[in-house]
Amino acid sequence: MPKKALITGITGQDGYHLSELLNNKGYEVYGLIRGQQNPKLVRVEQEQPYIKLIEGDLTDQSSLVRSIEVSEPDEIYNLAAVSHVGYSFRNPILTAEVTGKGVLNLLEAIRVTGYANKVRFYQASTSEMFGGLDYNRPGKGYDENALFHPRSPYGVAKLYGHWITKNYRESYGMHASCGILFNHEGPRRGIEFVTRKISNAVARIHLGLQDHIELGNLDSKRDWGYAGDYVEGMWLMLQQEKPDDYVLATGETHSIQDYLELAFKEVGIENWHLYVKQNPKFLRPAEVDILLGNPEKAEKILGWKRKVDFEDLVSMMVKHDLELESPNKLT
Ligand code: NAP
Ligand code: GDD
Repeated sequence: MPKKALITGITGQDGYHLSELLNNKGYEVYGLIRGQQNPKLVRVEQEQPYIKLIEGDLTDQSSLVRSIEVSEPDEIYNLAAVSHVGYSFRNPILTAEVTGKGVLNLLEAIRVTGYANKVRFYQASTSEMFGGLDYNRPGKGYDENALFHPRSPYGVAKLYGHWITKNYRESYGMHASCGILFNHEGPRRGIEFVTRKISNAVARIHLGLQDHIELGNLDSKRDWGYAGDYVEGMWLMLQQEKPDDYVLATGETHSIQDYLELAFKEVGIENWHLYVKQNPKFLRPAEVDILLGNPEKAEKILGWKRKVDFEDLVSMMVKHDLELESPNKLT
C-alpha cells in the first residue's frame, strides 16, 4: 500500500515542490484547495494531475475533518497560511485566523477524527518568529533554542501555530514536528516576495518590457535557500522515530542589495542602482533587519543539507524569468 499524504497550501511554492517530492517517492498525494473558483486550480490540474484535490479552508473546521476522512493520511503537512509579512500588517485579524488559529483547527480535526496517534504532522514554522532583534550570535545564527521575538502579525500568528503544535505533541502524544524554516525561494516563488519580484523585473528590464523596479527597504538581510532543498527536510522530519523541531537554513546571510547585484549581473548590467527606485509603500511598520540560521541540528540528526547556494539560486530564478517573459515564447 502506498503511503498517503495530505498537504494544505498545495497551490503555494512549497506545496508544489513537496507534492513533486512525495509523488516521486510513490506517495498518494492529497491537496487541500480553497475557494469556489481558485485561479490556480487549472495550473495544478495541468501540471500535477496526480494530486487528488479536496476543497477546504483552514478557517472551516468541518472541511478539515472531511479532508482527513477522505484522504485517510499517514502524514499531514500544514503549509497553508497567510504568508506575506507586509500583507499581514494590513490584514492582521485574517492572519491570526488563518496562520494562527487555522493550525488549531487542523490539529483539532486530527484529534476528533481519531487520527492523533495515527498520523504524522508537520507544521510550517518560520524564522520570522525570531524577529532579528537579538542578533548577537556572530557566525552561528539562530538555532532551535534561540529566543522568539516576532515583529509582525504574521510572526506572532506563526508563533501561536508553533506552540499549539508543541502542545498537542506534549498533551496527546502526537507525532507533530515543527520545521523552523528560513527563507527559501525559487522559480515557483510568488511574485509578491522580494526575490521573485526582482528576478522577474530584471528579466523584463532586459527584454525591454519595463524600465525600473520599485522596492522598499534594501538593507535587510536574509538567509536564502532553495525551496526544492527545504521540502526534503520537511519529509525527513516526519520519517524520524520521534517528533521534534528543526531549523532549516543555509548558515549564510545576504542583503537585498547583494541579491540585486547578482540578479542584474546575470543579464550583464553592472550598475543596478540606475534601475531601482525606492517606494515607501513597500516599507513595513516594523522590520526584521537580519536573519541567519544555524542548521547544525538538522544536518546532524536528519542528515539534511542544502545543495543550492546563493549564487546558483539567483541565477536559476533570473534564467527562469527570462524564459517565462521572453516574447518568442509567447508567439
Ligand atoms: P505560499 O506560496 O504563500 O502558499 C501559501 C498557501 O496557503 C497557498 O496555497 C494558499 O492558497 C494557502 N492558503 C492561504 N490561506 C488559506 C486558507 N484560509 N485555507 C487554506 N489554504 C490557504 O507559501 P510558501 O512559500 O509555499 O510557504 C509554505 C508555508 O511555509 C507557509 O505556511 C509559510 O508561512 C511557511 N514558511 C515559508 C517560508 C518561505 O521562505 N517560503 C519560510 C518559512 C515558513 P491560495 O493559493 O488559494 O492562496
Ligand atoms: N515583499 C517585498 N517587496 N519585500 C521587500 C520589498 C518589496 O518590494 N522591498 C524590500 N523588501 C524587503 C522586506 O522589507 C524584507 O526585509 C525582505 O525584503 C524580504 O521580504 P519578503 O521577500 O517579503 O520575505 P520575508 O522575509 O518578509 O518573509 C518570507 O520569509 C519568511 C521566513 O523568514 C515569507 O516567505 C514568510 O512567509 C516566511 O515565513
